[in-house]
Amino acid sequence: MKSDFKIADIKLAPEGQRRIEWAWQYMPVLRLITEKEAEKKPLSGVTIGACLHLEAKTACLLKALKELGAVVAAAGSNPLSTQDPICAALAESGVHVFSRRGMSAAEYSDNLREMLNWEPQVIIDDGGDVVAMLVEERKDLAGKIMGGCEETTTGIKRLKAMAAEGVLPFPMLAVNDAESKHLFDNRYGTGQSVWDAIMRTTNLVVAGKNVVIAGYGWCGKGTSKRAAGLGARVTVVEANPHRALEALMDGFEVTNMSDAARKGDIFISVTGNTKTIRREHFEVMKDGVLLANAGHFDVEAYVPDLKEMAASTYSSRSGIDTYVMPDGRRLHLLGEGRLVNLAAGDGHPVEIMDLSFAMQLLSALYISRNKLAPGLYKVPEELDRRVAELKLESLGITIEKLTPEQEAYMADWRE
Ligand code: ADE
Repeated sequence: MKSDFKIADIKLAPEGQRRIEWAWQYMPVLRLITEKEAEKKPLSGVTIGACLHLEAKTACLLKALKELGAVVAAAGSNPLSTQDPICAALAESGVHVFSRRGMSAAEYSDNLREMLNWEPQVIIDDGGDVVAMLVEERKDLAGKIMGGCEETTTGIKRLKAMAAEGVLPFPMLAVNDAESKHLFDNRYGTGQSVWDAIMRTTNLVVAGKNVVIAGYGWCGKGTSKRAAGLGARVTVVEANPHRALEALMDGFEVTNMSDAARKGDIFISVTGNTKTIRREHFEVMKDGVLLANAGHFDVEAYVPDLKEMAASTYSSRSGIDTYVMPDGRRLHLLGEGRLVNLAAGDGHPVEIMDLSFAMQLLSALYISRNKLAPGLYKVPEELDRRVAELKLESLGITIEKLTPEQEAYMADWRE
């Protein structure tokens, strides 16, 4: 049985609408694509099922999909990243939305089920939970799905594992791996939004602090660069030898977590892996350290260990849980160990999500227009280029154009 929506409070819609209008104003690429396609309504007859962080920029994507003719059903991709005013505004505008900030794990799964009851033909996933649910619970629907798009590194990791096991039932586009996405969203988006969230939640200074960043993928690179820009002394913890060398040559200290745990004032995990910061590390940390996770799932700074070890726990400020160790040391966990930039902030800056969500919109259109075999696909190069070109155009920047002679030279091996 389908429900129209399940949200916290429809009366919050005017506040949500204002936030969405603010974001829309600064998303020229998404606007341009929407304006160009809207008249033809290329998505009419298509139901899109999304599982995304339900905040203002995401609402702009969902609004664009609707303007292109789609029926849109959406669930929140994290209990703490859902913004209730945004859900209210979406519900009021006819999106079938199922989420509320602070929902339990059981509610989270029920909301995914509600979204899937709309029987989408195209899915937009952030983290892989929709595909996992289709594979595990709703095989009946999986066969009818034309395909989908995945937003994040963790989701791609899971899709690769599904493809390797031969259980991925439909085509998925790896939006995360498009250059227009990860070069900007993962690097500059995470770089800015993680520090924005930590600073606004704690009201503490970053300059002069020892900041430990675990993981030197694109997100770790951006977070480290911004930490250095804020005046922190940055140490990178990395298990991949090439990335570790890269961090070293980018000017950062490089070590392992056992060593870093003793020195750090602020710890941020962006490995995408489980138990990056765990009991043995909590045991040697200084009094007053900040712990934050910027990876998709809340498994990196390992909260069950903190809970087991603590003599007592209290909330220091909104968004900060303090775990008091038996020896009196206080370890402060931000955003319950969920991805800090969304749990304790508004997510990536608007202009960055303009690129990511323009990529999502073009990818959803591509999936709806092309019949592909099951598997994980790269986003077609021309779509990826188009997003970057439109962004430059919106900024009034004209870039160099190769002459025919230069094109020919680049395609030739003789010279
Ligand atoms: N806002 C919406 N989706 C987001 C994401 N995946 N990361 C950061 N901010 C976001």
